Amino acid sequence: MVILGIETSCDETSASILKDGRILSNVIVSQLVHSEYGGVVPYLASKDHEKLVHRVVLQSVEDSSLSFDDITAIAVTQGPGLIGSLLIGLNYAKGLSIGLKIPLIGINHLHGHIASGLIDNNIDFPFLCLLVSGGHTQILKIENETDYIVLSKTVDDAAGEAFDKGARILGLKYPGGPEIDKASLNGKLGEYKFTIPKVKSNIADFSFSGLKTALLYKVNKLSKETMENEISNIAACYQESIIDTLFDKLKIVLNENRVNNILIVGGVSANTRFRIKSKGFMSDNNVNIIFPDLKYCTDNAAMIAMAGYMKYKKGLSSNIDILPFSSIKN
Ligand code: KG4
Ligand code: ZN
Repeated sequence: MVILGIETSCDETSASILKDGRILSNVIVSQLVHSEYGGVVPYLASKDHEKLVHRVVLQSVEDSSLSFDDITAIAVTQGPGLIGSLLIGLNYAKGLSIGLKIPLIGINHLHGHIASGLIDNNIDFPFLCLLVSGGHTQILKIENETDYIVLSKTVDDAAGEAFDKGARILGLKYPGGPEIDKASLNGKLGEYKFTIPKVKSNIADFSFSGLKTALLYKVNKLSKETMENEISNIAACYQESIIDTLFDKLKIVLNENRVNNILIVGGVSANTRFRIKSKGFMSDNNVNIIFPDLKYCTDNAAMIAMAGYMKYKKGLSSNIDILPFSSIKN
């Protein structure tokens, strides 16, 4: 079974070929146009996807050493994401599925991130999944390939958003996560304290929106010179408070839902300090933590192909999530 995955939900144009559960190619073009604006500009993202999507798909087929005739089905991100960007990928995939007379499988982007952890990893169900991306922060119980229950979520900003907004306040580039990650490597912990409020309605839920304001107040009190000297220390302390919150909530959910394995996925799962601190969490809580390979953490089509493969295998190809053209048969 060969699946072509296509991802265009935000600012990465990506295509991947998966054969029988193994990734043969994964082409990702990260749009650089947004960095000067400090965030993704939706109109520019759509324009770039339109320019890139066909070329990226051709490259992914070529890299896999297969041909278009070998493809069994197309898996494409159908949401959530930027509507204009999604439409480019969706319509391209629809056209291709009609042309090749093969099914089209619509994939929820978040299910794609969950599936990223199952590429080259076998994890017994059920397990917990902490999904930490630029738009979402959730802890889910994964019952099987397609059934997920959300146990905890953010009530405002996502963890990735806290990294991005924090980086902006510190004068670092977009996306902010990798920048804070790098700046923190030489930073000292302890000097700057950031407290994150509890969410009264559910103590397992996350709230990150106050953090950037706390950072802004701290930064505004410092002179330009102190800021320059202290940036690594401030970044390290800010990052630490995000990571500690993620682990605090994970512990609460784990205590209520005992499992042997936790999968951590999404862009923030690429964070160096987060990965280091997970070792302590594992031994303290007698649980195993699995991260995807770094190339599958931020947005990519391999995870969409993997989610499509899991869905197709489960025989859901005629379900409502599958777009109408899936009824076209060879
Ligand atoms: O999963 P993703 O690529 O896109 C969404 O679905 O949102 O996640 C992007 C987010 C951004 O907020 C980015 O700053 C963050 O992931 N990110 C990181 C790191 N790499 C990416 N955050 C912390 N440390 C990193 N190394
Ligand atoms: Zn994503």
